[in-house]
Amino acid sequence: MSEIKTIAVFTSGGDAPGMNAAIRAVVRAGIYYGKKVYGIYRGYDGMIQGEFEELGARSVSHIIQRGGTILKSARSAEFRTKEGRKKAYDNLKKFNIDALIAIGGDGSFRGLNIFDQEYDMPSICIPGTIDNDLPGTDYTIGYDTATNTAVDAIDKIRDTALSHHRLFFIEVMGRDSGQIAINSGLAGGSVAILIPEEKTSIDELVFKLHQTAKSDKKSSLVIIAEGGKSGSAMDIAKQVTEKFSYFDAKVTILGHLQRGGKPTYFDRVLASKFGVAAVEGLLNGVRDVMTGIQGNKIVYNSFDVISKLKPDIDHESYRISKILSI
Ligand code: F6P
Repeated sequence: MSEIKTIAVFTSGGDAPGMNAAIRAVVRAGIYYGKKVYGIYRGYDGMIQGEFEELGARSVSHIIQRGGTILKSARSAEFRTKEGRKKAYDNLKKFNIDALIAIGGDGSFRGLNIFDQEYDMPSICIPGTIDNDLPGTDYTIGYDTATNTAVDAIDKIRDTALSHHRLFFIEVMGRDSGQIAINSGLAGGSVAILIPEEKTSIDELVFKLHQTAKSDKKSSLVIIAEGGKSGSAMDIAKQVTEKFSYFDAKVTILGHLQRGGKPTYFDRVLASKFGVAAVEGLLNGVRDVMTGIQGNKIVYNSFDVISKLKPDIDHESYRISKILSI
């Protein structure tokens, strides 16, 4: 394998707090090891359009604490075509890029996997998504911050819910994943958590609300992942209130506010470790892997292995939330 002299980094898919800390880590680690580092703007779309810029140690100053991504992000339909990938490869050659580091979710690593098979391009993916729904890592960058943001909002809603004896249906992000719902629901003391991975019937939910109201509960918070099997927070609120009118009911959709904001210390540290691991991995001949953290150890899992695995939820938190929400 020829020596890697130039690395390019980009962010792709939904942005996540801590992506900037990961960009900073990749750029600085690359320079530390004597390499040139380019940033590619707007993910795979920018790779196709040739939006490249060489980054120095100072171009990533003052971003470790910032949400979003200085490299911007996009979901690219063109990169899914052979022609799109050919244009991207031609641009990488123009800038003498020898290796790629993507920061993003499953779409990002699937893209890199195909690209390496077609063009023999060493690449490593850093898991960055608020959903925490990637196999091969206990945590993805952004999940801790997004879950803390959700918990903060839930706490605020609790104050008003209790003051008015109300029932709130709070929708959190996670189109295909209940991870934010489970742990923000547990930390926020919710009465029930509805997730895409498991069906909860309206009758079950109504039964629980009746039971807790009978035991003198003065207000209730139900947390619903946006992709919940039982419907959106609006649908569920409508169906529940037809059968349960003990409390006045309200709906709050937290939406994209969960994607922004200052990354927590946890996400900054995780991003820094992943960024350095990605650069060191490439320089040591590791390729076609995603960095991960498992049991507090940084690991590399091959694209082939993780693409065959299904993401899992935090079953223990989910179980505990049911015990504690009586
Ligand atoms: O994958 C991260 C995520 O925030 C999901 O939780 C959410 O369903 C989706 O992205 C929203 O995507 P967009 O910002 O494109 O609407």
